[in-house]
Amino acid sequence: MTALLDVRDVSKRFTLGGVFGRKTVHAVDGASLTLQTETPEIFTIIGESGSGKTTLARMILGLEDPTEGSILFQGQTVRRRMGKDERMRFMSSVQPVFQNPFEAFNPLRQIDRYLDSTARAFLGATDKTVIDAAMDDALQKVGLSLAEIRGRFPHELSGGQLQRVAIARALIPKPALLIADEPVSMVDASLRMSIVNLLKTLRDSFGVSVIYITHDLATAYYISDRIMIMQRGRIVEIGAARKVLETPEHPYSRLLKSSVLSTADAGAGQLAVDPTLLRAASDCIGRPGRLVSRPDGRAVMIHDA
Ligand SMILES: Nc1ncnc2c1ncn2[C@@H]1O[C@H](COP(=O)(O)OP(=O)(O)OP(=O)(O)O)[C@@H](O)[C@H]1O
Ligand SMILES: [Mg+2]
Repeated sequence: MTALLDVRDVSKRFTLGGVFGRKTVHAVDGASLTLQTETPEIFTIIGESGSGKTTLARMILGLEDPTEGSILFQGQTVRRRMGKDERMRFMSSVQPVFQNPFEAFNPLRQIDRYLDSTARAFLGATDKTVIDAAMDDALQKVGLSLAEIRGRFPHELSGGQLQRVAIARALIPKPALLIADEPVSMVDASLRMSIVNLLKTLRDSFGVSVIYITHDLATAYYISDRIMIMQRGRIVEIGAARKVLETPEHPYSRLLKSSVLSTADAGAGQLAVDPTLLRAASDCIGRPGRLVSRPDGRAVMIHDA
């Protein structure tokens, strides 16, 4: 069967600066991953700031072209230049959920207007009863209803509720894949779990796969089927979430796991890290390496001496 998503050896380089002092950033360096159609899953990407998570997500969404490699969604090449119909077809299967729900909605526009235009655009519906039913159906999936949100403005909802509406909107075309780039980092801690649980429900009850990008190991451990750890554009470890997070093998994965808020530096927001692990993880940066398969199904980057 054709894979849902097939990312093949994808790299993205950005060139910065002018004629003098030109610098190349390897935002993503040789990344490969595959999601299967028949097994919806929550696939989590984790890694420090600047490790290439958003760049990879943007390429999968067809907002950015890879410098090398290819991305296939249901067997079709994903690229930035797509015809209008091709783009609409693609976007009805792959939908983004962004970090800040307050930025996703115009403060002066009633939020049901957004859902209404999405239903019109993707479902080609013009009949009000059909549109309302599609909106209500999507809102029910995220634990809301049309009656609750009709006529309301973004500021009348909490961040958590608004993020639910953003997810409901993404669900209207009935996508097979959601790409959620740090969907809970701007949501109050008390409401985070409800969004995270919602992603689980989407997988279990509606067969939607989710690429979940986060810095948060706790929620990643809780909801992920598989996890991929990125360091400076490279995948350093990928496999079943429990295995990778319980017994991380790559030095950078081990460093991530060991990072805990220091009580000694309480209030300073410093991460207390084991200096040996930090050195080992830093030593891997820029060193050639290759992903080696382990018997438990994970792959770990092994660096040349
Ligand atoms: N349009 C761009 N032009 C130049 N450099 C870019 C561009 N987009 C990303 N980069 C660079 O690529 C690298 C990866 O960035 P990216 O935003 O993908 O990281 P990230 O893992 O999403 O980080 P964060 O956790 O902070 O969101 C960074 O060094 C970043 O500065
Ligand atoms: Mg990012």
